[in-house]
Amino acid sequence: MKRSISGIKPTGNLTLGNYIGALREFKKYQDEYENYVFIADLHALTLPIDPAFLRSNTKDIVAFYLASGLDINKTTIFLQSDVSAHSELNSILINYLYMGELSRMTQFKDKSAKLNHEAIGVGLFAYPVLMAADILLYNADVVPVGEDQQQHVELTRDLVHRFNTRYNKEVFVMPKAITPKVGARIMSLSDPTKKMSKSDPKGDIFLKDEPNIIRKKIMSAVTDTGSDIIYDPVNKPGISNLLQIYAALSDISIEEAQTKFKDIHQYGEFKKIVADKVLEEIIPFQERYKAFLNNNTINEVLNIGKERARKVANKTLTKIKKTVGLYVHE
Ligand code: AMP
Ligand code: TRP
Repeated sequence: MKRSISGIKPTGNLTLGNYIGALREFKKYQDEYENYVFIADLHALTLPIDPAFLRSNTKDIVAFYLASGLDINKTTIFLQSDVSAHSELNSILINYLYMGELSRMTQFKDKSAKLNHEAIGVGLFAYPVLMAADILLYNADVVPVGEDQQQHVELTRDLVHRFNTRYNKEVFVMPKAITPKVGARIMSLSDPTKKMSKSDPKGDIFLKDEPNIIRKKIMSAVTDTGSDIIYDPVNKPGISNLLQIYAALSDISIEEAQTKFKDIHQYGEFKKIVADKVLEEIIPFQERYKAFLNNNTINEVLNIGKERARKVANKTLTKIKKTVGLYVHE
């Protein structure tokens, strides 16, 4: 059976972008793939974060995973820091990627630009190394992610090529990023030229927002002048983003969504239909999330996942240790 792996960083409140670009996709793989989904808590330390906030975000993500329909009989849900092989493989792989390639990563450039040059963490710089370890430990064939993570998966592919060539055998499986056909990059509602990210309270729809707040945010989303509902990200980024959200949640193409709205010439009416669609999906999702959010369920899920993930990861780690010449003994 082919394998799929992905994860989300518990760095803040999850957004509709996380939901459409990643979370909602994960369960699509659990029937046909051996599915691994984790909480990238070590990655959350790459920028300063309050410990209590990190812990509560971590629990939230487990409950969100369950609420999105991930079934622990089909999907291994685990915590990155529970499987020490991630850190161990990281310290091997860090020698196989170059400073030049890491410094060209868009996410690193964006995040480090906001920091004082002298205070850019080594972990932030080396972020893609740990991400490569996450993927390669599970011999994953596919990695479902939003568009912003594609570059990191590409770098993992370069690493696989380099490593396999150097040791002259198929040590690692070549992974492939898969992004959703519609919704791989959801934009901010307050500035639709920017990505919706966890740090923009005005432009974000948070998965934990009250339904009336979600409706308000959509109704006041920035749009352009004009009145036609047309997909044109350059000239009409706000309308295009709302069309994208509607199409993604309806599992239809952007063209189909556009046809559906061809007779509507009022943005207000269009926004109301988009808000209805979002709430139709998010309200029951929030109810399921609340039901799963208790320490017993969270701990039980993580304990089961930890055992399963460790088995697979440790096996790969031993193979890699042997490959590079570390002395493996009983
Ligand atoms: P992060 O919040 O950076 O851990 O992202 C978790 C997953 O959500 C990754 O696969 C991202 O690519 C995806 N994601 C984050 N923001 C967006 C967005 N605005 N649109 C689509 N996908 C996103
Ligand atoms: N870097 C991803 C993000 O910021 C999270 C992540 C960490 C991940 N390791 C991964 C995603 C491995 C897929 C596979 O969204």
